[in-house]
Amino acid sequence: MQTKSSSSDISSASKLTARLSANSHASRDFDEWCLRQFPELLLGANVLDLGCGTGKQVSLFAPLLSASSKFYGIDLSGESLDILKKDYSSPPQLELIEGSFDEMEKINSLEGGTFDLIYASYALYYTKDLGKVINDVYRLLKPGGIFWVICPYSGTNQEFLSILRTYHEVEPFMDYVFDDFHKEVIAFGEKSGFRSLKPSLLRNKIHFPSAESFMKYLKNSLFYREGFDREILSDVQKVVDNLGEFPVSKHIVSLQLRK
Ligand SMILES: C[S@@+](CC[C@H](N)C(=O)[O-])C[C@H]1O[C@@H](n2cnc3c(N)ncnc32)[C@H](O)[C@@H]1O
Repeated sequence: MQTKSSSSDISSASKLTARLSANSHASRDFDEWCLRQFPELLLGANVLDLGCGTGKQVSLFAPLLSASSKFYGIDLSGESLDILKKDYSSPPQLELIEGSFDEMEKINSLEGGTFDLIYASYALYYTKDLGKVINDVYRLLKPGGIFWVICPYSGTNQEFLSILRTYHEVEPFMDYVFDDFHKEVIAFGEKSGFRSLKPSLLRNKIHFPSAESFMKYLKNSLFYREGFDREILSDVQKVVDNLGEFPVSKHIVSLQLRK
């Protein structure tokens, strides 16, 4: 299933940065959880980030790799890749590719059978063809290599989806991402030939301290529709008046498939 959102909204570096800043109000540390899931790798491992954006995970994981490792990142947004390049300071050599993970067969530097780890965090559901990407990932991995997907899980964002739905439609793509995408990853993974699966779940909560801080997050998300700000702000404010904050559930699943 594909989103109706424009690719400029999906790939906007400034919107991504604004959304990521909401993590400072989270009850559990998402980065620390990701680091705990990080798989055991050979020294000198080759790692590829699909939809690396501004490099949140690249910057987190690169210091854990040996200097002889090579890190690759692919993203549609040249602007995000420029931010990542500017901020990157770890020893592993970094190769950034401005392009689509839907067309990895056209990228010469991505050689079959050469990667130890290929991962995607909050990105792969934007693909035009999940089965094809997963087949390509399988082809690019070494035997025993790991494909790692981090994505939302059922129940995520439930507190504000119910508010938004009283004013406008929320596109079915969002339900697909929260409820079905991870199941498709497992099903296509099995079809491609992956032989084992290690799942892990994080139930997190973002505690927005004010209705305004939530609205800032909302306006930078794909959920935002113009024309309802006053109504939504007022509903969120009622929760803040009651609870002293606006809590939003973020349920996250990590799936590691081994070739
Ligand atoms: C929500 S952001 C996540 C970025 C990063 N992985 C993170 O967790 O901070 C999704 C990213 O996927 C990228 N993206 C979407 N479709 C893509 C495609 N077909 N090929 C490559 N990148 C894509 C967007 O440009 C955006 O940077």
